[in-house]
Amino acid sequence: MSIVERARGIGIVPVVSIPRLEHALPLAEALLEAGLPCAEITFRTAAAAEAIPRIRPRFPEILLGAGTVLTTEQAETAISAGGEFIVSPGTNLTVVDHCLTNGVTIFPGVCTPTEIEMALSKGVDVLKFFPAEPMGGVKFLQAICAPYKNVRFIPTGGIDTKNVGQYLALPQVVACGGSWMVKPELFEAGDFAKVKQLAGEAVALVRELRG
Ligand code: 3PG
Repeated sequence: MSIVERARGIGIVPVVSIPRLEHALPLAEALLEAGLPCAEITFRTAAAAEAIPRIRPRFPEILLGAGTVLTTEQAETAISAGGEFIVSPGTNLTVVDHCLTNGVTIFPGVCTPTEIEMALSKGVDVLKFFPAEPMGGVKFLQAICAPYKNVRFIPTGGIDTKNVGQYLALPQVVACGGSWMVKPELFEAGDFAKVKQLAGEAVALVRELRG
């Protein structure tokens, strides 16, 4: 199964900022036990680079990627650590080229037709729609999908249990990204039971919506 098919099957990509490396394994365990075997570890914290190789061998069944990848160096770090996919907030063609050259799936961020066409010019057609809600949400996505029939999206930014269903109902939506079940405050409090509960609720919601 391709990365995109796996992401579609899961339906939600937890966007995680790990404050400290010791949070990595309890987080992965909570997600897996909740039936949400996916994590985008963002390079917004220093722990990201080491969190990926820590999780990878212990939980090979988790679809594990790196987010907020802004440079080829970060992409390389994530890829060599075992990251299976790369996500970036914007469409940086140097980073896109680096991933494509290395045969690694990248979901570059877009929020305009011009950015979509930049990604398409590289043959990349599954894109992160970011920041989804501030940019106009489902309405904007529906409008922008009209001229780009074959493009698919992973909307992220401002999505939670209240609106995730509206996005997942769109056929062009592969999965939704979101941090609502993996808030760093929960890690700091050691409340991985809450992470598991919120992730489990997210899984139940996807099942209800997609069957
Ligand atoms: C991202 O980087 O994809 C977003 O910050 C996640 O958005 P959220 O925190 O609003 O879910």
